[in-house]
Amino acid sequence: MNKNIAALREEFPALDGRFNGRRLVYLDSACTVLKMKCAAEAQRQNLLLLGGCGGKRSMHSLAAAMEMDFYAARQRVARFMGASTPEEVIFTSGVTDAVNLLANSFPFDPRRNEVVLSPLEHNAVFLPFERLAAAGRIKLRVATLKDFKVDMTGLGGLIGPRTALVCLTHAPNIFGGSQDIGAAAEMTRAAGAYLFTDDAQYAPSHGGCGAAGGADACAFSGHKIGAPFATGALYVRAGLMARLHPWRVGGGTVEEVSFSGGRYRAKYLGGHQGFEAGVQNYSGAAGLAAAIERLDKTGFAGIRRHVSGLVLHALKELEGVKGVKVLGRKENIPEGSLISLAPVKKGFSVPDFNLFLNQEIKGRIVAVRTGRHCADLACLASGYGETIRISYFAYNTPEDTVCFMEALKKYLSLLK
Ligand SMILES: Cc1ncc(COP(=O)(O)O)c(C=O)c1O
Repeated sequence: MNKNIAALREEFPALDGRFNGRRLVYLDSACTVLKMKCAAEAQRQNLLLLGGCGGKRSMHSLAAAMEMDFYAARQRVARFMGASTPEEVIFTSGVTDAVNLLANSFPFDPRRNEVVLSPLEHNAVFLPFERLAAAGRIKLRVATLKDFKVDMTGLGGLIGPRTALVCLTHAPNIFGGSQDIGAAAEMTRAAGAYLFTDDAQYAPSHGGCGAAGGADACAFSGHKIGAPFATGALYVRAGLMARLHPWRVGGGTVEEVSFSGGRYRAKYLGGHQGFEAGVQNYSGAAGLAAAIERLDKTGFAGIRRHVSGLVLHALKELEGVKGVKVLGRKENIPEGSLISLAPVKKGFSVPDFNLFLNQEIKGRIVAVRTGRHCADLACLASGYGETIRISYFAYNTPEDTVCFMEALKKYLSLLK
């Protein structure tokens, strides 16, 4: 392991913890990454040493210090996401919050009311738009898959003059790999529509998000990069931001509310301020900025190389193992950080295997994710009701995979 990656590993105390007296083999980073000491410390300091209210409400020095800290976090997140200015960043509690905000703020009109997305979208992306479709406000167009990837030719066929928004997961959370955002951005732009990318799985080990590939909006979740829970951000290019209608309104979003001619009028603030209603997660933002800073110090190129190496090693270990099937294209999978396995041996019970990993491995708990991974559309399209997902971050080692493989082979040997 390279020394920068080894030093980064020290940031994650949970790796040395004991759970029911057993050591943790953590292969569930696609669900959430373990948390970093530096992020927790930045959050703690912000809470205890500042603790006042930001957002330009109170004008005393403590409030000003908090607002400056919050702005510094916004600048850090803006650089990470590839935003032109910090004002293109809206703080959210994660991707779910970001997509709900985007879907409900987007200026759909009857002539341009189609949203094109793929069956690889997480429910966090699919459901907010499905609700708008059910309410008759938009039409959904769902692309098809080819070899567990979005069929880009088919996707292109769905994008046209009625398309308002295209939504694509940058790195799918179920079949691994990554998607060609540059090509999607070109098709979207040519049709005069906007592109949103879901960077929940891309940001952690690639660094950055779809803005670099030409997306007009993108989002990531802090807890998936080792930052505090309920942190994250939505990037929106300035031109699109100006067209969004604030969805969640309240304190901090208005210049003033007035009453004249028998009517109340609210004058909303422009830019990100119109979307950050109420008191914000200032301490979470401090933790988020610290996590980004720490990963950047290690270097995302090195993190990506490390994670791709782990995925390649796992694919090799899985070769020739009968009883499970690797889902996805082998040449594409190492571009992501995870592998999904479909149980194909008769008698293979995914819940039983999960119990086996938690209870039957001497001195170890092997933590993986089983089920549909909130990607129901992808499961429906693939024909598999549930999968076993192993996923990686910078702290994993090839020994983690070896431990999982031994457990898998032992479980398979127990089946008749
Ligand atoms: C691809 C993808 N998109 C969106 C989400 C939702 O993220 P959050 O729960 O942090 O809002 C996840 C979480 O697992 C994900 O994997």
